[in-house]
Amino acid sequence: MEQTYIMIKPDAVQRGLMGEIISRIEKRGLKIAAMRLGVMSEESAKEHYKEHVQRPFFASLIEYVTSGPSVSMVVEGKNAIAIMRAVNGATNPVEALPGTIRGDFAVETGRNVVHASDSTEAAKREMAIHFKDSEIVNYTKIDEVCLY
Ligand code: TYD
Ligand code: MG
Repeated sequence: MEQTYIMIKPDAVQRGLMGEIISRIEKRGLKIAAMRLGVMSEESAKEHYKEHVQRPFFASLIEYVTSGPSVSMVVEGKNAIAIMRAVNGATNPVEALPGTIRGDFAVETGRNVVHASDSTEAAKREMAIHFKDSEIVNYTKIDEVCLY
């Protein structure tokens, strides 16, 4: 069992894609263990993307992810980290395959709709930036229960 940090970025919220994205995560068979809509603080955004601080797109990236409400989630399940990277598709929508979220809904790298942690370490770090332990809910879904 793994947990990963997912963000539905502000452009996706503006375009009414929250339900579509959440639905894809649920239908894939992963569990949402935490979820919150809010405007990400500049401090959290800079900490979240600190690996990119020297890159030319850093300032516009921070401006974009703090520009309006986004949805933060912890998504849980077997191989959740790799599966969510695959569900989202390639960073550059030109390379994102149809059937992925970015491949179906994005054309610009700088407006690529979703985020997912890229490793176990990143997932742990990012979940700690955006959620308190007490906000991550441990529960069983009906399809995990053996009835017989
Ligand atoms: P990155 O961590 O490389 O991609 P991913 O989101 O797939 O983990 O980059 C973080 C975000 O920075 C990316 O989702 C969009 C933005 N970005 C740009 O705006 N321009 C770029 O050239 C790159 C590489 C990323
Ligand atoms: Mg990344």
